[in-house]
Amino acid sequence: MKRRRIPGLIDLFEVSDANEIKALARDPHLDRKFETPTCPINWLLLKRSLEVLSFGRHRFPTMMPREDAQRVSRQQELWNTLTEKAAAIKSGPAELEPLADWVRGVGSDAQLGILVQQLLGQLFSSRFVATEESWNAAKTLVSAPRSKNFPLMLWWFVGGKVRRAKRLLAGLVNEDLSAVNAIGIAVHNVVKSLRHMRDLYSNVELRSSLSAEAAAEQCLFAPVSVYRQATAAGQLGDCPYSRHSLFVLSIGEAAQQPEGRSLVFMEDSWSRCPANLWVPGMLQGVWDRACLSA
Ligand code: HEM
Repeated sequence: MKRRRIPGLIDLFEVSDANEIKALARDPHLDRKFETPTCPINWLLLKRSLEVLSFGRHRFPTMMPREDAQRVSRQQELWNTLTEKAAAIKSGPAELEPLADWVRGVGSDAQLGILVQQLLGQLFSSRFVATEESWNAAKTLVSAPRSKNFPLMLWWFVGGKVRRAKRLLAGLVNEDLSAVNAIGIAVHNVVKSLRHMRDLYSNVELRSSLSAEAAAEQCLFAPVSVYRQATAAGQLGDCPYSRHSLFVLSIGEAAQQPEGRSLVFMEDSWSRCPANLWVPGMLQGVWDRACLSA
């Protein structure tokens, strides 16, 4: 755990050890309440993420506090819906053919983004149609909270690029913010999975030896990082932290460690991803379908 602290300026912890992240995820003082009256650099980081990951004064579910009743019920509801669909998608139905074909080597990277966005959008609205425009909006949305290119980001914010991207995506899914998160943010993790699956598939030996389950497991990647903020002073091991300390939990790196698998979807935490069974099931379905015609 690395601490960057200059009193009155920054108070930030960067954590990339799987066991430390698991301990912090269990800590009741760490939450996503995200109070912005804090030191300037913490404020800047939080403000930017909250600005991007909210729409019409409502935060995306991934930025909502643990105890928020609506978040909790929506998370459970979505988990129920997706888990119910997991068995069917795992069997590799026809709707996965475009993705299976892409894994076999047909189509460009940009086409993959549109195909994945289409699959995810359909989970929320049967009339959803992904286009080059909606995929470009998703790329804007994922870059804006984390990009280190500050002049470009300033240009995007001032010029309304981020606002327009969110408006476009929200308009396609009836302003359901779980859906906007899926087609604007989570879509990039699934794209990464399928890019890796195409690499695995291109290896003829792996293609015939890997089970669908093993292939899907190898294709899972966690988001790069998630934020938490301390609601009160506390201590992790021998390291004290203050109220409003900001934590960057680098789950992308930690999930690659031997004990890090549960961090891909924050499975053992209150913030568990509702797609934690649907995504691996879908990846198995794509692998099986791609191999079927090999
Ligand atoms: C490879 C794909 C995906 C990965 C790796 C992933 C990972 C995660 C992680 C780690 C979190 C917890 C964030 C935190 O602790 O602050 C999360 C939350 C969430 N994910 Fe996913 N996700 C994926 C795909 C999806 C998809 C496809 C959907 C929707 C269809 C989805 C919906 C959500 C929602 C709504 C939350 C917020 C849960 C809450 O706290 O209420 N995710 N996801």
